[in-house]
Amino acid sequence: MELVKPDAAYRDSFLEGLLEFQADGMDDYLSYERVKQDFPGYVKRLIKSGKPFFLPPGQSPYHLYWLVDGDEYVGRLSLRTKNTRDVMSYLGHIGYAIRPGRRGRGCGTEILRLGLINARKMGFERVLLTCADFNEASRRVIVKNGGVYENSVPDPQGIVRERYWIEL
Ligand SMILES: CC(C)(COP(=O)(O)OP(=O)(O)OC[C@H]1O[C@@H](n2cnc3c(N)ncnc32)[C@H](O)[C@@H]1OP(=O)(O)O)[C@@H](O)C(=O)NCCC(=O)NCCS
Repeated sequence: MELVKPDAAYRDSFLEGLLEFQADGMDDYLSYERVKQDFPGYVKRLIKSGKPFFLPPGQSPYHLYWLVDGDEYVGRLSLRTKNTRDVMSYLGHIGYAIRPGRRGRGCGTEILRLGLINARKMGFERVLLTCADFNEASRRVIVKNGGVYENSVPDPQGIVRERYWIEL
């Protein structure tokens, strides 16, 4: 498996993954039909969405990557590059999600491992990871990748998020 930039070549598999995420209660803000109609346009907007010009003030720019297995879309990872107040408190530098159909088989552990390699290449010496205190799978992904617990803070919705540092 590898991390790649979002790419229109993964259209069919991405759309299957989107249906899985939506059936699981995620990504409901996306219209499946609209994404399907103009997939190259969607991918272009996705890449642009992390660039400073397109972000509200105070929000960190980010790089977005897809985890792929051959021609199959498996999941996504975002790497936030600015130490904003939100990033340094409850968001952390890296977020990830594995499509429901591929969970429980090591992909979450692998996507973070690969994301950390990218972060190191980009000059990060350590990164902050966070997970909701009830998200056991994500906690395990973080700890298996070297996460050291610092403390827990509430996010704006009141969800308690555990904060972990990973040295690179
Ligand atoms: C968190 C997530 C990325 C994990 O992906 P995954 O591919 O299932 O992860 P892995 O297969 O590498 O499993 C990691 C560990 O979690 C455990 N695990 C997996 N699913 C679990 C579950 N539902 N409950 C408890 N533990 C679970 C695995 O057994 C493994 O632990 P082990 O190696 O000690 O046995 C995935 O569940 C997901 O995308 N969730 C929705 C988005 C999300 O929560 N992202 C993280 C935001 S902080």
